Amino acid sequence: MVPFEFHPRTRVVFGPATVTRVGQLARDLGFRRTLLVADPGIREAGHTARVLDSLTAAGVEPFPFDSFGINPDSAMVAAGAAFAAPLNIDSIVGLGGGSSLDCAKGINFVLRNGGSIADYRGYGKAATPLLPMIGIPTTAGTGSEAQSYAVIADATTHMKMACGDPSAAVRIAILDPDLTLSAPRHVTAMAGYDAIAHAVESAVSTKRNPLSDTFARQAWHLLSEAFERVMLHPADADARAAMLVGAHFAGMAIETSMLGAAHACANPLTARYNIPHGLALALVLPHVVRWNGAAVKDRYAALLGAPRRRIRDEDPAETLALRLEDFAVTGHLAITLSDAGVDAAAIPELAALAAQQWTGTFNPRPFDAVGAEEIYRAGI
Ligand SMILES: [Fe+2]
Repeated sequence: MVPFEFHPRTRVVFGPATVTRVGQLARDLGFRRTLLVADPGIREAGHTARVLDSLTAAGVEPFPFDSFGINPDSAMVAAGAAFAAPLNIDSIVGLGGGSSLDCAKGINFVLRNGGSIADYRGYGKAATPLLPMIGIPTTAGTGSEAQSYAVIADATTHMKMACGDPSAAVRIAILDPDLTLSAPRHVTAMAGYDAIAHAVESAVSTKRNPLSDTFARQAWHLLSEAFERVMLHPADADARAAMLVGAHFAGMAIETSMLGAAHACANPLTARYNIPHGLALALVLPHVVRWNGAAVKDRYAALLGAPRRRIRDEDPAETLALRLEDFAVTGHLAITLSDAGVDAAAIPELAALAAQQWTGTFNPRPFDAVGAEEIYRAGI
């Protein structure tokens, strides 16, 4: 068993309409002047106004910031920190998908400690603790509200940097499934696939441990049961709740177990072709599961339901890969890299980039450029 450390830093508040409690929860934490980081789509959906109203009613003065997009980069983070610098804020609220939550954390790093977000790549490099934060996800996806990492792209190379610190974990995560109802279908599909990938990768990583296994398995159970329901019946409240809690648990699993080759192969697709993160994962995860199969088939069998001897006797990796491909079909996601616009001639370059990804070092089968090339070729 590998060593692990678990220090819950986040109070989790789950339930329909819990977003209306944000003002009081912020006051409980002593917030007086808070930066509200929420992208323009969240404002258009009406979520920003509800949070602003709740904060104001509780006597917390909010300062909204929305000048960033999906895949927030180092320049957007710098702009947010520059916006916040003269405001004398004492706290930050992140509202939205992973973009908003990661951008909020990134701004916090730079605002409190100066320099560029790239200076905080790795873990524990914030000399001054970050301002206290509340995280409110509006998609069931990254689980960023469960993690002490901000994932920010380099504005020049577009490659993702993971910047972590104990103080980057939000103090309170508000999980209100009603907020996820407004997401467009393809956003729900891609975010949900990201969460599923987190459960699958964290269940087999080299840093997996009994605690991360607990969260990964329960995340898989919730997400795999609910994904198709939420795709077919978007207003199904129970399915929405299961997706949001499942995504949060998958985020908790990642916190101690990290990820693997699917995220390593997905990141260059996003950087080079601007393919959204969840879609990039859908294109590579089934092939990574097959590629890993011989190394961790018992663990994949356990994820699918250990007592089912039939799964064990068949090929658990293939069974899981087929299930993952079904999810992509249900989500109306592209199935092959070619469909997504990837040129086979680019595979060696993509593979070289994938091999440099930190996340690939935690894959259960040793992963390098040769392995990445095999995975991309299987998916083209
Ligand atoms: Fe992810």
